[in-house]
Amino acid sequence: MLNADIIESITGKTTKKHKSRIPAKLDLLQSITGLILALFIVFHIIFESSILLGKETMYKLTMIFELEFIIEGGSPIFISILAFVIFIILIFHAFLAMRKFPNSYREYLRFRTHTKLMNHSDTNLWFIQISSGFMLFFLASIHLYIMMTQPQNIGPFASSDRIYSDVMWPMYLMLLVSVVLHAGVGIYRLIMKWGIFDGENPRKNRVKTKKIIQIVVVFYLIIGIFSLISYMKIGYDHRANYGEKYIPQMELKNEN
Ligand code: HEM
Repeated sequence: MLNADIIESITGKTTKKHKSRIPAKLDLLQSITGLILALFIVFHIIFESSILLGKETMYKLTMIFELEFIIEGGSPIFISILAFVIFIILIFHAFLAMRKFPNSYREYLRFRTHTKLMNHSDTNLWFIQISSGFMLFFLASIHLYIMMTQPQNIGPFASSDRIYSDVMWPMYLMLLVSVVLHAGVGIYRLIMKWGIFDGENPRKNRVKTKKIIQIVVVFYLIIGIFSLISYMKIGYDHRANYGEKYIPQMELKNEN
């Protein structure tokens, strides 16, 4: 019985007279983990773009994540813990999503031909989601591993040195595009799948939902790219003092 459930959850084909509920449950879990990750990204990109408001703002925000308001001087361990929790959710989400990948090259080719012939925009969206998800497998893992193991190296200078002097900016650019597209398409598909905004006129609302999500995606891409440029500029100006930590304004005043 259990084996039949497992086979069905992986292949989507039932070997039993009665359909199992496992695929539906796995689908729900995939939606929930996806929603948690998308919400995390919505806030993360805004917080991380605080660099656009200046080095001091980004520094203060980093200290909030290190719980400076509870522990004097803050502690980077809380950032490691958060990164670890996000990593676990990400692995679980990716594992659940693997069921939906085309499971052979032939199946993939058939899917591409089908997409081209139909030019159905929601099928194209599914392709964007699956390829950006594949990229995220690697890119998000690299980023999260660094955040888990070097949480003390987050700040206006440390982050900019990593992005400019450690040449991490190409990785961040790819990560930004992949995650924004993946989260945008993911949220759209979630809304469609669970009929969240169907209302009286599902067709009209579908078009409206798509428009709003497109605007949000473009907004996030723009602020993400501008903050990346800002980190690059700070990193470039700071290259001669690579590794030196940022000293907040208050401490600078006390020193003088
Ligand atoms: C708790 C976990 C995380 C922490 C603490 C964290 C922290 C940071 C920090 C400090 C930066 C600035 C650059 C740097 O210092 O290296 C950054 C950039 C970025 N992070 Fe994360 N991150 C986390 C999880 C994620 C995840 C799961 C994703 C996506 C899957 C992600 C996507 C990005 C992107 C795209 C950028 C660059 C944004 C831009 O272009 O301005 N982060 N992150």
